[in-house]
Amino acid sequence: MAKTALVTGILGQDGPYLAKFLLGKGYKVYGMVRRYSNPNFDNLDFLGITKKVEYVEGDMTDESSLITNIKNIQPDEVYNLAAQSFVGGSWHQAKLTTEINALGVLYLLNAIKLFSPTTKFYQASTSEMFGLGNTNGYQDENTCFHPRSPYGISKVYAYWTTVNFRESYGLFTCNGILFNHESPIRGIQFVTRKITDGVAKIKKGLADKLYLGNLEAKRDWGFAGDYVEAMHLMLQQEKPGDYVVGTGESHSVQEFVELAFKYVGLDNWRNYVVTDPRYKRPAEIHELKAKTDKVKKILGWQPKMPFEELVKTMVEADLKRYEH
Ligand code: NAP
Ligand code: GDD
Repeated sequence: MAKTALVTGILGQDGPYLAKFLLGKGYKVYGMVRRYSNPNFDNLDFLGITKKVEYVEGDMTDESSLITNIKNIQPDEVYNLAAQSFVGGSWHQAKLTTEINALGVLYLLNAIKLFSPTTKFYQASTSEMFGLGNTNGYQDENTCFHPRSPYGISKVYAYWTTVNFRESYGLFTCNGILFNHESPIRGIQFVTRKITDGVAKIKKGLADKLYLGNLEAKRDWGFAGDYVEAMHLMLQQEKPGDYVVGTGESHSVQEFVELAFKYVGLDNWRNYVVTDPRYKRPAEIHELKAKTDKVKKILGWQPKMPFEELVKTMVEADLKRYEH
């Protein structure tokens, strides 16, 4: 019989890539969506799988909706990708971020514990939990957490709740501690997509400036399509565990900008980019860089798309969008 997976956050960036990957493996995929005024299936449309997913309603802040879904579906696997995932916005909506990202995970795990305890659970943890923490310039599974945003703090709660349900109740729960991963369907507020969208608009004569914050911050950027494979692998192991997933390389925002402008033949990016204090954060993380020995050794996973190709792929997709 086909395995079943419930994916929360199905309409975001990772949800569609994961759903596509699972569908390819023969899974029946349920996607949880919250109540919307206007449905937005653009990301699933982009990957051509909108009609292949079965949708159920639910909200991470509404425990009863999570219980109903777990009870009805009894999924083999739950991938909890739902979150208020924008770090910059988390200072303005700290309570909501905490309710969705932290308490939501407690509700979901409780539902699994009570109504479907053999379900395997994946939690979308993040390198934002490390914040200032690092081990000789890298972050791995043993690096201390020192989050720098309400988002990072909410994810630390969720991380430990996931570990605690494993240790207390014997549930099969895993944390994927993923570093930044991007794609042509990355949300427009995140810096990579903001840059590639801005570059495409400037190239097409639809804008003349791109307003950005801190250009010096460095991130470990990979491709979302590669990272969902690691999520799946975690739940196929004999034992549950927590894994850092990244590329092991870091690049500055400025490097991303330079490459994106260069790709469309605009060599002097400084003519277009304006630094705007509105996009600077009250507390910044200067650099994140993954040490990925564990995920390579135990899951046999490694990223496939190099940084330059990622930038190129995203710029090309945005140029295409403005051709219509
Ligand atoms: P994303 O594009 O922001 O997608 C998040 C999804 O969560 C959206 O579909 C959103 O629904 C849904 N959501 C938000 N609040 C909800 C609620 N109250 N109830 C139910 N669903 C809700 O994020 P992503 O980039 O795909 O990331 C997926 C997960 O991985 C997130 O948990 C994120 O924190 C984590 N993560 C991401 C990265 C990364 O670099 N992308 C790295 C590490 C960890 P709507 O579409 O209705 O808004
Ligand atoms: N968004 C944004 N907009 N960021 C900017 C800008 C800007 O105009 N200018 C500079 N930056 C800098 C930010 O200050 C940050 O240092 C870096 O670019 C990356 O910002 P984002 O793309 O917003 O991502 P993030 O690193 O804060 O968070 C993403 O990755 C995390 C994993 O480390 C999100 O996907 C999180 O959900 C995820 O957990």
